[in-house]
Amino acid sequence: MRAAVCRELGGPENVVVLDVPTPAPGPDEVLVRVRCAAVNFPDVLMVSGGYQVPVPVPFTPGSELAGVVESVGERVTALRPGDAVYGVTMTGAFSELAAVPAAALHRLPPGVDFESGAAFGVVYATAYHSLRSVAELRPDDWLCVLGAAGGVGLAVVDVGVALGAGVVAVASSPEKLELCRSRGARATIDYAAEDLRVRLREVTEGGADVVIDPVGGPAAEQALRGTRWGGRFVTVGFASGEIPASRSTSSS
Ligand SMILES: NC(=O)c1ccc[n+]([C@@H]2O[C@H](COP(=O)([O-])OP(=O)(O)OC[C@H]3O[C@@H](n4cnc5c(N)ncnc54)[C@H](OP(=O)(O)O)[C@@H]3O)[C@@H](O)[C@H]2O)c1
Repeated sequence: MRAAVCRELGGPENVVVLDVPTPAPGPDEVLVRVRCAAVNFPDVLMVSGGYQVPVPVPFTPGSELAGVVESVGERVTALRPGDAVYGVTMTGAFSELAAVPAAALHRLPPGVDFESGAAFGVVYATAYHSLRSVAELRPDDWLCVLGAAGGVGLAVVDVGVALGAGVVAVASSPEKLELCRSRGARATIDYAAEDLRVRLREVTEGGADVVIDPVGGPAAEQALRGTRWGGRFVTVGFASGEIPASRSTSSS
């Protein structure tokens, strides 16, 4: 079978398609014929060697997939060959066949296609967990989303709108902000062109209740200063490559 293999840590050019042996599922694993696999930011970090959990080379990247069960390990009872499934696995999705722990897979609901299933687990689970378990978002909250047109950002916009919050989408271009508006964002801020702290306080009439930040860098501090009393700020990632540091400043 064919698989994308990272033979050396570095740029995406280090990932090459090779013929490799078909994996045999372990007792608690399922062999999935992969129909779709999504590319996420952490996949790029893993290939570059920058992920928080080091992955030894060679390895097949790809952390989420959707496909059809080919065979199951001897202890697996919940899934059968022919079942359509989706799920998250740290590596191995960029492959024709992937051996995945059964516990990491779910049946694809009727009417959901393989593309949607493969792109659901990482960003939507992150969005839901950030908003419900961590920020405890309420329907009348103002929710500010940084990097709102990115993978995590757009999922947070979708889930925030579904939970009834007033979503303020923050991104770096009119095209990205238009995309967020089309998904239900109530207000938008272009942080490449506008003062994020000032505009956030204006559109929310006093400050955001919740900020979700997958970007980091200078925007993080601006958004923090644009929250209202009792606001919740959730750090999800540092796509900008810069972890915000506290600095002494006299501005509020
Ligand atoms: N904690 C978790 O469970 C979890 C799960 C998934 C991802 N993450 C992390 O969340 C972060 C974002 O992931 P993602 O999938 O949303 O990534 P993404 O789709 O690439 O989006 C990242 C956004 O960040 C902004 N950005 C600013 N500077 C950037 C730079 N130098 N390079 C790339 N993007 C930059 C961009 O928006 P603008 O152009 O509008 O600024 C971009 O749309 C990553 O750090 C990832 O590791 C965490």
